[in-house]
Amino acid sequence: MKYPNQSVKPISTKINNKGNLEISKVDLVDLAKKYKTPLYVIDKPTLEKMAKDYIDAFSRYKNTKILFASKALMTGAVAKVLSSLGLGFDVVSLGEMYTLINAGIDLKKSSFNGNNKSIEEIEFALDKEIDHFSVDNFFELKQLNEAALRKNKIQKIHIRITPNIECHTHDYIKTGQTDSKFGFPIEKINDVVDLILNQYKNLNLVGLHAHIGSQIFETQPYYDLVGVLLGEIKKIKDKYNYELSEINIGGGLGITYSENDNPPSVYDIASVVIQSIEDNTKKFDLKKPILYIEPGRSLVCSAGFTLYTIGSTKKIEGIRKYITVDGGMADNPRPSMYQALYCAQVANKKENNKKEIVTVAGKFCESGDILIKDIELDNPQTGDILCVFDTGAYCYSMSSNYNNILKPAMVMIEEGKDKLIVRRQTLEQLVQNDIVN
Ligand code: LLP
Repeated sequence: MKYPNQSVKPISTKINNKGNLEISKVDLVDLAKKYKTPLYVIDKPTLEKMAKDYIDAFSRYKNTKILFASKALMTGAVAKVLSSLGLGFDVVSLGEMYTLINAGIDLKKSSFNGNNKSIEEIEFALDKEIDHFSVDNFFELKQLNEAALRKNKIQKIHIRITPNIECHTHDYIKTGQTDSKFGFPIEKINDVVDLILNQYKNLNLVGLHAHIGSQIFETQPYYDLVGVLLGEIKKIKDKYNYELSEINIGGGLGITYSENDNPPSVYDIASVVIQSIEDNTKKFDLKKPILYIEPGRSLVCSAGFTLYTIGSTKKIEGIRKYITVDGGMADNPRPSMYQALYCAQVANKKENNKKEIVTVAGKFCESGDILIKDIELDNPQTGDILCVFDTGAYCYSMSSNYNNILKPAMVMIEEGKDKLIVRRQTLEQLVQNDIVN
């Protein structure tokens, strides 16, 4: 059985009797007509399925807390779906916290990550009683302790460490290694614990946190990571007679962007992590910790897709044919930033039509604005609707207004129904902060 993170398309994707792509009983050609393109779409059943799979896979370890890594996709409506299933949030900015609060979600199950939190952000999180901070560096330790002191609070914290675990992933998104801007080097843990226990009386250190990378296709690094974190907890216990009770193993589970990708399922990850907790708590004679996990991409990616309209085309004889869509690198910067691969399908053509290998270009003024190089599509023509799959994570959240092109709207679909969850940006909004004269 395939889980959402192992499938390119949302769970109920099919071709309907009109010959159009249909997901959750919603005809994507009608959807594109109704809301115009480019359009981000979130399939709620796929989103919920993945979240429920996470909950189910880790239910064998009762002390698990799942935090959605908001950076992958932060909108109020998506957050409400995840929050209603019991998830908390990993947030990294005032904006993410504000978006949650605006959606009526408090921060009591959330963790505040990040390597340069501002005083304003720290104070906001303290005022909103965030569950804990994952403290990244010495500067933040001092700032947070002072802020907590001013507010007469004892703040629960984890400390983020770089566990020196290598993952076979893209260099830009590899964060677990020593040469990283994130976290305390593992050799510095004693200095950090000394400071907290002896000096920073307004901090309550309860756990260790690490994130080893993103789009990870192996399970072994997670086994090793739990071992490293529990090993450090053991050393702290021996030296200070102080046992930390929580670990956070970050996110990173990979997804299937193209049929060649073969990530483990969330059940595979859960059993490796739980096994490692069993083995290492025994080995180090420790109590079973509370386990935090912070999935981002794997929770939302395959629930999301983007609809575009094909505009101009250009055939360079003997070389390639370009088809250009009405969006591109500003609504999905991942192909140009990471050479990320995507799959797509013409939404208004029956499969097995005349196939053609084309390159899907965006409309932004940059030669690198290519969404998909050399993909076989069903006879793509001007005016057709193109559906690009797996855009749920790190597309809307990394979108920009390059070329002053308006950001797309986002719609959530379910059981034949569609609901606008992010309005299309307007020209008035585009210039609202401009000061002329
Ligand atoms: N926790 C921490 C501390 C993180 O830094 C991240 C991602 C996550 C959790 C979630 O990781 P995920 O489950 O989504 O892999 N923009 C890049 C991805 C950057 C990931 C940054 N940190 C991309 O589009 O591939």
